Amino acid sequence: MSQDDAKRRAAEAALAYVHEGDTIGVGTGSTVNHFIELLDQKGPRIEAAVSSSEASTERLRACGIKVRDLNQAGALDLYVDGADEADPHLRLIKGGGGALTREKIVAEASRRFVCIVDESKCVRVLGDFPLPVEVIPMARSMIARKLVGMGGQPKLREDVTTDNGNVILDVTGLRLTDPVAVEQEINQWPGVVCVGLFARRGADLLIVGSASGVETRQAAS
Ligand code: A5P
Repeated sequence: MSQDDAKRRAAEAALAYVHEGDTIGVGTGSTVNHFIELLDQKGPRIEAAVSSSEASTERLRACGIKVRDLNQAGALDLYVDGADEADPHLRLIKGGGGALTREKIVAEASRRFVCIVDESKCVRVLGDFPLPVEVIPMARSMIARKLVGMGGQPKLREDVTTDNGNVILDVTGLRLTDPVAVEQEINQWPGVVCVGLFARRGADLLIVGSASGVETRQAAS
């Protein structure tokens, strides 16, 4: 089974958490693209979605799903999104697709975050995947120096401007044994819009698709 098939399995299993008439948060990425397609094909008919990116908005609208502004929608019951890495405590690295800031906002606004991944995303310790940090353009070099001071190697994501008009630094070399502390530290630096660590508010459920089926995990205590 391909990695893409495993992503689709996880996406399909997430339909069980969606109810008719819901307004749900929808993330970004190839796994979520499967979710949007499956929701359209065989999911319950939702009232609307709050989208985490222009790309997902376009896909949702193409399926005839109404997209609402978060300010109008209020608190959401459910957010469905993928991840680049997930640890056993369901803390995540996200932002490989560049939508980390809006993803974090919609996750925060949601009572339940169901994360859908293929098994290659599951790790013991976060940090092999480069950590994305969205930065206001004028602060780029200053933040890069601070990340070096922290032991990381930041690299500007070439030719990428986020939906919010900012740039992304992808940071390698960080072994994130205390991701909550690192998230808090980076968040404090002026010029940082968002760090792609979802540790303080991780996922509530992790649905893992693989060749052997689908497994639903809760955070290890
Ligand atoms: C988008 O910015 C990311 O956070 C995605 O959720 C993450 O990169 C997972 O993407 P795939 O579903 O494409 O693997």
